[in-house]
Amino acid sequence: MDIRLLTNADLPLIQHANLENLPENYFLKYYLYHSLSWPQLSFVAVDVSRPKKGPYDYPKIVGYVLAKMEEEPSDGVPHGHITSLSVMRTHRKLGIAEKLMRQSQLAMVETYQAKYVSLHVRVSNVAARHLYENTLGFTNEKVESKYYADKEDAFSMRLNLDEIKKQIEAGENNGDVEEDKEHEDEGDAVGEVGKDPGQTAEGKQIKIALGKRPALGVGDLVEKDDSK
Ligand SMILES: CC(C)(COP(=O)(O)OP(=O)(O)OC[C@H]1O[C@@H](n2cnc3c(N)ncnc32)[C@H](O)[C@@H]1OP(=O)(O)O)[C@@H](O)C(=O)NCCC(=O)NCCS
Repeated sequence: MDIRLLTNADLPLIQHANLENLPENYFLKYYLYHSLSWPQLSFVAVDVSRPKKGPYDYPKIVGYVLAKMEEEPSDGVPHGHITSLSVMRTHRKLGIAEKLMRQSQLAMVETYQAKYVSLHVRVSNVAARHLYENTLGFTNEKVESKYYADKEDAFSMRLNLDEIKKQIEAGENNGDVEEDKEHEDEGDAVGEVGKDPGQTAEGKQIKIALGKRPALGVGDLVEKDDSK
Protein backbone atom coordinates (compact mmCIF):
# COMPACT_ATOMS: atom_id res chain seq x y z
CA MET A 1 0.00 0.00 0.00
CA ASP A 2 1.32 3.41 -0.96
CA ILE A 3 0.22 6.52 0.93
CA ARG A 4 1.07 9.55 -1.20
CA LEU A 5 -0.01 13.12 -1.84
CA LEU A 6 -3.17 13.57 -3.84
CA THR A 7 -2.66 14.88 -7.39
CA ASN A 8 -5.20 16.50 -9.70
CA ALA A 9 -5.17 13.35 -11.85
CA ASP A 10 -6.56 11.42 -8.85
CA LEU A 11 -9.63 13.62 -8.47
CA PRO A 12 -12.13 11.62 -10.56
CA LEU A 13 -11.19 8.50 -8.58
CA ILE A 14 -11.51 10.34 -5.30
CA GLN A 15 -14.92 11.57 -6.32
CA HIS A 16 -15.85 8.01 -7.21
CA ALA A 17 -14.70 6.71 -3.82
CA ASN A 18 -16.59 9.50 -2.09
CA LEU A 19 -19.81 8.66 -3.96
CA GLU A 20 -19.37 4.99 -2.99
CA ASN A 21 -18.69 5.62 0.68
CA LEU A 22 -20.43 8.74 1.92
CA PRO A 23 -23.71 10.61 1.56
CA GLU A 24 -21.86 13.95 1.59
CA ASN A 25 -20.73 14.54 -1.99
CA TYR A 26 -19.14 17.49 -3.73
CA PHE A 27 -18.66 18.94 -7.20
CA LEU A 28 -15.35 18.05 -8.82
CA LYS A 29 -14.32 21.71 -8.62
CA TYR A 30 -14.49 21.56 -4.82
CA TYR A 31 -11.91 18.76 -4.81
CA LEU A 32 -9.82 20.77 -7.25
CA TYR A 33 -10.09 23.81 -4.97
CA HIS A 34 -8.57 21.74 -2.16
CA SER A 35 -5.75 20.30 -4.23
CA LEU A 36 -4.82 23.67 -5.71
CA SER A 37 -5.13 25.70 -2.51
CA TRP A 38 -3.57 23.27 -0.01
CA PRO A 39 -1.64 20.75 -2.14
CA GLN A 40 0.30 19.47 0.88
CA LEU A 41 -2.66 18.35 2.99
CA SER A 42 -4.63 15.72 1.06
CA PHE A 43 -3.45 12.13 0.62
CA VAL A 44 -4.50 8.97 -1.17
CA ALA A 45 -3.91 5.29 -0.44
CA VAL A 46 -3.02 3.36 -3.57
CA ASP A 47 -3.10 -0.41 -3.81
CA VAL A 48 0.18 -0.92 -5.63
CA SER A 49 -0.01 -4.71 -5.34
CA ARG A 50 -2.87 -4.80 -7.85
CA PRO A 51 -1.53 -6.04 -11.22
CA LYS A 52 -1.87 -3.50 -14.05
CA LYS A 53 -4.31 -4.68 -16.70
CA GLY A 54 -2.76 -2.53 -19.43
CA PRO A 55 -0.83 0.71 -20.08
CA TYR A 56 -3.95 2.85 -19.54
CA ASP A 57 -5.10 1.11 -16.38
CA TYR A 58 -5.66 3.57 -13.51
CA PRO A 59 -3.97 2.90 -10.17
CA LYS A 60 -6.50 1.61 -7.69
CA ILE A 61 -7.16 4.31 -5.12
CA VAL A 62 -8.61 2.64 -2.04
CA GLY A 63 -8.79 5.59 0.33
CA TYR A 64 -8.32 9.32 0.60
CA VAL A 65 -8.30 12.18 3.03
CA LEU A 66 -9.34 15.57 1.71
CA ALA A 67 -8.14 18.34 3.98
CA LYS A 68 -7.75 22.10 4.07
CA MET A 69 -6.78 25.00 6.28
CA GLU A 70 -9.68 26.94 7.72
CA GLU A 71 -9.66 30.09 5.64
CA GLU A 72 -11.13 32.58 8.11
CA PRO A 73 -10.92 30.90 11.51
CA SER A 74 -13.47 32.48 13.84
CA ASP A 75 -11.07 32.07 16.79
CA GLY A 76 -8.15 33.56 14.85
CA VAL A 77 -6.09 30.39 15.42
CA PRO A 78 -4.61 28.76 12.30
CA HIS A 79 -6.06 25.29 12.07
CA GLY A 80 -6.73 22.52 9.61
CA HIS A 81 -10.04 20.90 8.78
CA ILE A 82 -10.85 17.43 7.48
CA THR A 83 -13.36 17.87 4.68
CA SER A 84 -13.75 14.20 3.80
CA LEU A 85 -12.20 10.83 4.59
CA SER A 86 -13.08 7.40 3.32
CA VAL A 87 -11.64 3.96 2.66
CA MET A 88 -13.16 1.44 0.25
CA ARG A 89 -15.02 -1.42 1.94
CA THR A 90 -12.54 -3.96 0.52
CA HIS A 91 -9.66 -2.29 2.38
CA ARG A 92 -11.12 -1.29 5.74
CA LYS A 93 -9.71 -2.11 9.18
CA LEU A 94 -6.16 -2.25 7.86
CA GLY A 95 -5.07 1.02 9.43
CA ILE A 96 -5.34 3.00 6.18
CA ALA A 97 -7.61 5.75 7.51
CA GLU A 98 -5.36 6.21 10.54
CA LYS A 99 -2.28 6.58 8.31
CA LEU A 100 -4.02 9.05 5.98
CA MET A 101 -5.14 11.15 8.92
CA ARG A 102 -1.70 11.18 10.55
CA GLN A 103 0.00 12.21 7.28
CA SER A 104 -2.41 15.09 6.86
CA GLN A 105 -2.02 16.25 10.46
CA LEU A 106 1.77 16.23 10.10
CA ALA A 107 1.56 18.28 6.90
CA MET A 108 -0.78 20.80 8.57
CA VAL A 109 1.83 21.46 11.25
CA GLU A 110 4.88 21.35 8.98
CA THR A 111 3.45 23.51 6.24
CA TYR A 112 0.98 25.84 7.90
CA GLN A 113 1.91 25.71 11.61
CA ALA A 114 -1.65 24.56 12.35
CA LYS A 115 -2.44 24.52 16.06
CA TYR A 116 -5.29 22.03 15.84
CA VAL A 117 -7.41 20.12 13.35
CA SER A 118 -11.20 20.05 13.35
CA LEU A 119 -13.87 17.88 11.73
CA HIS A 120 -17.51 16.88 11.82
CA VAL A 121 -18.76 13.35 12.23
CA ARG A 122 -22.25 11.86 12.31
CA VAL A 123 -23.25 10.84 15.83
CA SER A 124 -24.23 7.40 14.43
CA ASN A 125 -20.88 6.78 12.65
CA VAL A 126 -19.37 4.18 15.00
CA ALA A 127 -16.32 3.37 12.85
CA ALA A 128 -15.30 6.97 12.27
CA ARG A 129 -15.91 7.95 15.89
CA HIS A 130 -13.71 5.10 17.08
CA LEU A 131 -10.96 6.24 14.72
CA TYR A 132 -11.17 9.89 15.77
CA GLU A 133 -11.76 9.48 19.52
CA ASN A 134 -9.91 6.30 20.44
CA THR A 135 -7.20 5.92 17.82
CA LEU A 136 -6.29 9.55 17.14
CA GLY A 137 -7.39 11.27 20.37
CA PHE A 138 -9.88 13.84 19.06
CA THR A 139 -12.23 15.34 21.62
CA ASN A 140 -15.84 16.28 21.14
CA GLU A 141 -16.28 20.05 21.32
CA LYS A 142 -20.04 20.31 20.81
CA VAL A 143 -23.05 18.77 19.11
CA GLU A 144 -24.25 20.59 16.02
CA SER A 145 -27.93 19.88 15.82
CA LYS A 146 -29.30 18.74 12.42
CA TYR A 147 -25.94 19.48 10.79
CA TYR A 148 -26.42 17.03 7.92
CA ALA A 149 -28.90 17.30 5.05
CA ASP A 150 -30.92 14.39 6.47
CA LYS A 151 -31.11 16.26 9.81
CA GLU A 152 -28.72 13.98 11.69
CA ASP A 153 -26.65 15.71 14.39
CA ALA A 154 -22.89 16.07 14.09
CA PHE A 155 -20.16 16.02 16.69
CA SER A 156 -17.78 18.88 16.11
CA MET A 157 -14.41 17.45 17.08
CA ARG A 158 -10.88 18.71 17.35
CA LEU A 159 -7.37 17.49 18.03
CA ASN A 160 -4.61 19.68 19.41
CA LEU A 161 -1.49 19.35 17.24
CA ASP A 162 1.11 20.45 19.84
CA GLU A 163 2.26 16.85 20.29
CA ILE A 164 3.05 16.55 16.56
CA LYS A 165 4.93 19.85 16.66
CA LYS A 166 7.06 18.53 19.53
CA GLN A 167 7.74 15.30 17.64
CA ILE A 168 8.83 17.26 14.55
CA GLU A 169 11.16 19.43 16.63
CA ALA A 170 12.64 16.39 18.41
CA GLY A 171 13.11 14.63 15.07
CA GLU A 172 14.85 17.67 13.59
CA ASN A 173 17.30 17.86 16.47
CA ASN A 174 18.14 14.17 16.42
CA GLY A 175 18.26 13.27 12.77
CA ASP A 176 19.71 16.26 10.99
CA VAL A 177 23.38 15.83 11.82
CA GLU A 178 23.49 12.27 10.53
CA GLU A 179 21.60 13.22 7.42
CA ASP A 180 23.88 16.15 6.65
CA LYS A 181 26.97 13.94 6.94
CA GLU A 182 25.45 11.44 4.59
CA HIS A 183 24.82 14.09 1.94
CA GLU A 184 28.03 16.02 2.44
CA ASP A 185 29.50 17.37 -0.78
CA GLU A 186 32.84 15.63 -1.26
CA GLY A 187 34.09 17.43 -4.37
CA ASP A 188 35.72 20.84 -4.85
CA ALA A 189 33.89 23.74 -6.45
CA VAL A 190 33.89 23.57 -10.26
CA GLY A 191 33.86 26.91 -12.09
CA GLU A 192 31.56 29.78 -11.05
CA VAL A 193 28.50 27.62 -10.54
CA GLY A 194 30.02 25.37 -7.93
CA LYS A 195 31.53 28.19 -5.85
CA ASP A 196 30.50 28.58 -2.25
CA PRO A 197 28.42 31.78 -2.30
CA GLY A 198 29.66 32.54 1.21
CA GLN A 199 33.27 32.89 0.06
CA THR A 200 34.90 35.66 -1.97
CA ALA A 201 37.50 35.00 -4.71
CA GLU A 202 40.24 35.66 -2.12
CA GLY A 203 38.82 32.95 0.12
CA LYS A 204 37.43 35.45 2.66
CA GLN A 205 34.25 34.36 4.40
CA ILE A 206 31.22 36.65 4.02
CA LYS A 207 28.00 36.44 5.97
CA ILE A 208 24.81 35.35 4.25
CA ALA A 209 21.43 35.61 5.96
CA LEU A 210 19.97 32.18 6.48
CA GLY A 211 16.87 30.85 8.17
CA LYS A 212 13.21 30.95 7.45
CA ARG A 213 11.84 33.75 5.30
CA PRO A 214 8.94 35.61 6.84
CA ALA A 215 5.64 34.42 5.42
CA LEU A 216 4.80 36.04 2.09
CA GLY A 217 2.07 38.59 2.48
CA VAL A 218 -0.10 39.69 -0.42
CA GLY A 219 2.12 42.76 -0.73
CA ASP A 220 5.03 40.55 -1.73
CA LEU A 221 3.06 39.04 -4.53
CA VAL A 222 1.94 42.34 -6.06
CA GLU A 223 3.96 43.39 -9.08
CA LYS A 224 6.23 46.26 -8.19
CA ASP A 225 6.64 49.40 -10.30
CA ASP A 226 10.43 49.39 -10.71
CA SER A 227 10.49 52.71 -12.58
CA LYS A 228 10.01 54.60 -9.28
C1 LIG B 1 -14.33 5.41 9.01
C2 LIG B 1 -13.37 4.76 8.01
C3 LIG B 1 -12.70 5.89 7.21
C4 LIG B 1 -12.30 3.97 8.80
O1 LIG B 1 -11.34 3.49 7.85
P1 LIG B 1 -10.38 2.25 8.17
O2 LIG B 1 -9.24 2.32 7.20
O3 LIG B 1 -11.16 1.01 8.19
O4 LIG B 1 -9.88 2.60 9.64
P2 LIG B 1 -8.55 2.03 10.34
O5 LIG B 1 -8.27 0.66 9.80
O6 LIG B 1 -7.47 3.05 10.24
O7 LIG B 1 -9.03 1.86 11.84
C5 LIG B 1 -8.85 2.84 12.82
C6 LIG B 1 -9.52 2.38 14.10
O8 LIG B 1 -10.94 2.34 13.92
C7 LIG B 1 -11.43 1.04 14.22
N1 LIG B 1 -12.54 0.71 13.34
C8 LIG B 1 -12.53 0.67 11.99
N2 LIG B 1 -13.74 0.31 11.55
C9 LIG B 1 -14.52 0.12 12.64
C10 LIG B 1 -15.87 -0.29 12.83
N3 LIG B 1 -16.65 -0.57 11.79
N4 LIG B 1 -16.35 -0.35 14.09
C11 LIG B 1 -15.57 -0.06 15.16
N5 LIG B 1 -14.26 0.33 15.04
C12 LIG B 1 -13.76 0.39 13.80
C13 LIG B 1 -10.25 0.12 14.01
O9 LIG B 1 -10.41 -1.10 14.70
C14 LIG B 1 -9.11 0.96 14.52
O10 LIG B 1 -9.15 0.93 15.92
P3 LIG B 1 -7.82 0.70 16.82
O11 LIG B 1 -6.90 1.86 16.54
O12 LIG B 1 -8.38 0.71 18.22
O13 LIG B 1 -7.25 -0.61 16.39
C15 LIG B 1 -14.09 3.78 7.07
O14 LIG B 1 -14.88 2.90 7.84
C16 LIG B 1 -14.98 4.46 6.02
O15 LIG B 1 -14.52 4.83 4.96
N6 LIG B 1 -16.28 4.63 6.35
C17 LIG B 1 -17.22 5.26 5.43
C18 LIG B 1 -16.90 6.72 5.24
C19 LIG B 1 -16.87 7.49 6.56
O16 LIG B 1 -17.65 7.23 7.46
N7 LIG B 1 -15.95 8.44 6.66
C20 LIG B 1 -15.80 9.28 7.82
C21 LIG B 1 -16.67 10.47 7.68
S1 LIG B 1 -16.54 11.53 9.09
